[in-house]
Amino acid sequence: MSSPILEVQNISKIFEANDSSLTVLDNFSLSLDKGESLGLIGASGSGKSTLLHIICGLEQPNSGKVIVKGESITELNSDERSVFRNKEIGFVYQFHHLLSELSTLENIALPAMLSGKSKDEALSKAQTLLSQVNLVGKEKNNPNQLSGGERQRVAIARSMSNDPSFLVMDEPTGNLDSQNVQSFMDLLMNMISEKDITLIIATHDQNVSSRLNKLLSLE
Ligand SMILES: Nc1ncnc2c1ncn2[C@@H]1O[C@H](COP(=O)(O)OP(=O)(O)OP(=O)(O)O)[C@@H](O)[C@H]1O
Ligand SMILES: [Mg+2]
Repeated sequence: MSSPILEVQNISKIFEANDSSLTVLDNFSLSLDKGESLGLIGASGSGKSTLLHIICGLEQPNSGKVIVKGESITELNSDERSVFRNKEIGFVYQFHHLLSELSTLENIALPAMLSGKSKDEALSKAQTLLSQVNLVGKEKNNPNQLSGGERQRVAIARSMSNDPSFLVMDEPTGNLDSQNVQSFMDLLMNMISEKDITLIIATHDQNVSSRLNKLLSLE
């Protein structure tokens, strides 16, 4: 048996705001094996984004531990977590967070460049990804010259820049029409089975969740 790609062990997350505290995750655990795909569902405010941020090391839990590919990321400092995330995890934010001063192609190439690939190699990989998400012709546009759905597709392509074996996506299809959701899921599920990628997606979209191995509902 190979060890799991992801182990979330007894995490709790409490937000303190305006004199009150809100427990979003209470002693929550989860384990995911290589190649599995998990859909995270649940009402707005149930803690999906919070959980994904903790899994990627963007936020720290109040207690508990997250182990990604054998590395206990909760014990890393924030710089170490950023380096680990860029290299090992492809992350798509709920609100895509593209860099407005960079072009579409450069945004997609950025994670590869940050991890030390040559500019030529990173841009050529970015061009392949860009055509896979149907954005040929938009290479030079800045994010503010793209539609909402196009920006989301840039963010999806960017998450694959470093060929991650672990992909984490927060509502990646929120701005896509149903036809683009289908082609996005076709592309994603192909890549996953070809490259044995492990996937977690938070989603409200049944066209997404119905294609995944496992579903987990947050209360
Ligand atoms: N930084 C913060 N400070 C205080 N409360 C927060 C903070 N971030 C999130 N919350 C609260 O935690 C709860 C969970 O938020 P989260 O963003 O994880 O929900 P979600 O399941 O992703 O919802 P959605 O489906 O709308 O994206 C919400 O009630 C939210 O108001
Ligand atoms: Mg969310």
